[in-house]
Amino acid sequence: MTTLRLPGLIDVHVHLREPGATHKEDYDTGTAAALAGGFTCVLDMPNNTPPITNAETLAAKKQLARSHARCDYGIHLGAGDDNVETAYQLAPQVTGLKMYLDQTFGPLRLDDLDSLQKHMERWPADRPVLCHAEGRTVAACILVAHLTGKHVHICHVSRKDEIELIRKAKEKGINVTCEVTPHHFFLTDEIANTIGFGRSEVRPRLAKDADRQALRSSLEVIDCFATDHAPHTLLEKESPKPPPGFPGLETALPLYLELVREGLISIEQLIDRAVNNPRRLFHLPDQPETWIEVDVDQDWIVRGEEMQTRAKWTPFEGWTLRGRVERVLVRGAEVYRSGEVLAQPGSGHDVRS
Ligand code: DOR
Ligand code: ZN
Ligand code: ZN
Repeated sequence: MTTLRLPGLIDVHVHLREPGATHKEDYDTGTAAALAGGFTCVLDMPNNTPPITNAETLAAKKQLARSHARCDYGIHLGAGDDNVETAYQLAPQVTGLKMYLDQTFGPLRLDDLDSLQKHMERWPADRPVLCHAEGRTVAACILVAHLTGKHVHICHVSRKDEIELIRKAKEKGINVTCEVTPHHFFLTDEIANTIGFGRSEVRPRLAKDADRQALRSSLEVIDCFATDHAPHTLLEKESPKPPPGFPGLETALPLYLELVREGLISIEQLIDRAVNNPRRLFHLPDQPETWIEVDVDQDWIVRGEEMQTRAKWTPFEGWTLRGRVERVLVRGAEVYRSGEVLAQPGSGHDVRS
């Protein structure tokens, strides 16, 4: 047994579903899943019901998080056609402005090029604009961000053409960063043959092996690892219209460690992508006396029903993963130990409070 002590992981992209869809997840279960996975800070997406696009919905969501979160958290604001004039005023309270520019889960969308430009013009230059963008839309986001002098962060890059474009933009000095999920590093569209169509639905879709290989050979271009933890119930996933998304918080770290074992990155480079770059790019405060202890040699079999997430399923069901979180401390307090979440709901801090 080799126990490694690592800093608490930071996930810049999760969907904890509160308010509006707490049958899938809520702050209590979602942050319990985070701690079990070794994450001590998560940044939550705004595609709730209602979407988080103004001062009222933001205040209501913050109140829920304050009462129920067991780990530290930040909240991203949503960009819509209806908050072009007001969103930037909320920048100090949030961790980024999220734009949904391609089809995915929920009604929050930004289709209009004029709104995209106006949001980018107004948003503070030192705070990230996060884009759900696929294919050609990635190019549009990078161009508008560059023209307006803003920092654009491309979420869940999944394809070879996208990562190559981002590499070239970085080489030209454009202020673009990006993240990749564990599922796009480890799964391809072939998985539908094993787990079925509904369970394999996710946006961006699982891609081809050439795409997966391109991500693995571009690790120097990838700033952050992010789970895009997007829980839905099994009943929903197996319905005729399955919503896209996978729970990911409790399987991420052993998959990241697999990239280290495969020789693609060092452990220090993993910590850059899972802790240091998220903290720097999203301007997150230090978490003093906060660390995780991981038995990096321990093999375990993934079982959705044993997880903290309310979704109770995973696309990695039955996989043998290596590396298990044994213990998590936040601000000196033991908050997770050997399968048991010890942190109380409401003990997490808002990174913007
Ligand atoms: O698969 C996804 N699910 N992709 C997204 O962009 C949204 C997410 C969700 O909220 O379920
Ligand atoms: Zn997305
Ligand atoms: Zn997402």
